[in-house]
Amino acid sequence: MNNSSTQSRSAALYERAQKVMPGGCSRNTVLRKPHPLYVDHGAGCYVTDIEGVSRIDYANNMASLIHGHAHTAVVEAVTAQLQKGTAFTLATEVEIEFAEHMCRRNDGFESIRFVNSGTEAVMGCLKAARAYTGRPKIAKAEGAYHGQYDYAEISQTANPSNWGDAHNPSSVPVAHGTPASALSDVIIIPFNQPEQAVEILNRHRDELACVLLDLMPHRGGLGPASPAFVQAIYAWTRENNVLLVFDEVITFRSNYGGAQEWYGVRPDLTAMGKMIGGGFPVGALAGRKDVMSVMNPLADTVLFPHSGTFSANPITMTAGLVSMEMFDKTAVSNLNHLANQARAGIAEAIQIADIPACVTGGGSMFRIHMKPEAPVTYRDAYMTPQESQHIQFLLDYLFDNGIIMINTCSGTLSTVMTEKEIEVLIETLLAGFRKIKQLL
Ligand SMILES: Cc1ncc(COP(=O)(O)O)c(C=O)c1O
Repeated sequence: MNNSSTQSRSAALYERAQKVMPGGCSRNTVLRKPHPLYVDHGAGCYVTDIEGVSRIDYANNMASLIHGHAHTAVVEAVTAQLQKGTAFTLATEVEIEFAEHMCRRNDGFESIRFVNSGTEAVMGCLKAARAYTGRPKIAKAEGAYHGQYDYAEISQTANPSNWGDAHNPSSVPVAHGTPASALSDVIIIPFNQPEQAVEILNRHRDELACVLLDLMPHRGGLGPASPAFVQAIYAWTRENNVLLVFDEVITFRSNYGGAQEWYGVRPDLTAMGKMIGGGFPVGALAGRKDVMSVMNPLADTVLFPHSGTFSANPITMTAGLVSMEMFDKTAVSNLNHLANQARAGIAEAIQIADIPACVTGGGSMFRIHMKPEAPVTYRDAYMTPQESQHIQFLLDYLFDNGIIMINTCSGTLSTVMTEKEIEVLIETLLAGFRKIKQLL
């Protein structure tokens, strides 16, 4: 089953695509060598390409499809809304219903606003924190991906040639031409290193608006942050009147009220996105009423004017509401249980194949590393060229044998998966691990 033939329909489409888009796409995630495969349709946890090959989808559009593809309840609700219009300059009731639902999920969500992407949600949180505190700088963990806002993306792709001292990581730009001011306004702390992080934060306490944290950063290895790290950062922000912002764009799926429930820590603001849109573009920022009120357009002085043409459009609100209502406490717990089974099965397959690999993750996600020990920091998780090669080999093997993963060899589950799909995953992984063993 090799779909990479240059004669395929996908190859022909990619030739056309390259003529009109840099790299032939608007989104690098879809690229594969020698060309992307084009989709025909998705149904449940399966995706069928235009060559007619179906695969189990563990990528779920980068963790955003909590109920898989084309869930009947979402399709029906959105179809009904489509007939009535997609976007208005009048308010809609469904926005209020969805806002009420999201605020019920977490006591810390006293107030919420919707936007169109995770990037925008994180940007909104950082700007709200600056507006509230009147301070310019933000701190974030090395390697953590928070979307594409200049300040949020600093050091996201730091590597051994530019990341500097582990105790005092450098602020590394992602895009060429990033203003020097953005670099100096972003303080990088090492993930999961409480003492070192606090030492760095202390040096900037009077200039910081907020600390931005992902509690299980994908690029940091997809291991849950240690409770000691989260507690240390939380306590430091309380002592220094600096806001704490959690980026739960991916991790919100981990519990009914987000991964923050693992720690019993309430941030001042939470950024969300991905799955809460029910398959449509979305972002949201929620948290303390007094902080969120910097966006209140009715205030005498509006500290942070905030708007967006498609924000809270009724299609996203409808799909999001239906999807989140279905992702109730029982659904969350069942999904996490299935993911526990997957992680245990993968760990066993690694042991049987006897290769130096490990599996990390939490909630409904997992990531496979070609390293014997689970990484704790971004630098630990950083892949050597050989590890990268083995991960690519495994990804290709899985893909050719009917499984789509995220390109770091991470997987996310959807509620329409069953033990059957988990068994297929584990069997295919075992066969892939055995092939890697032969390369070692
Ligand atoms: C943790 C995290 N924050 C923010 C974002 C940005 O979200 P979006 O791609 O919707 O802009 C992502 C996207 O992968 C993410 O994983």
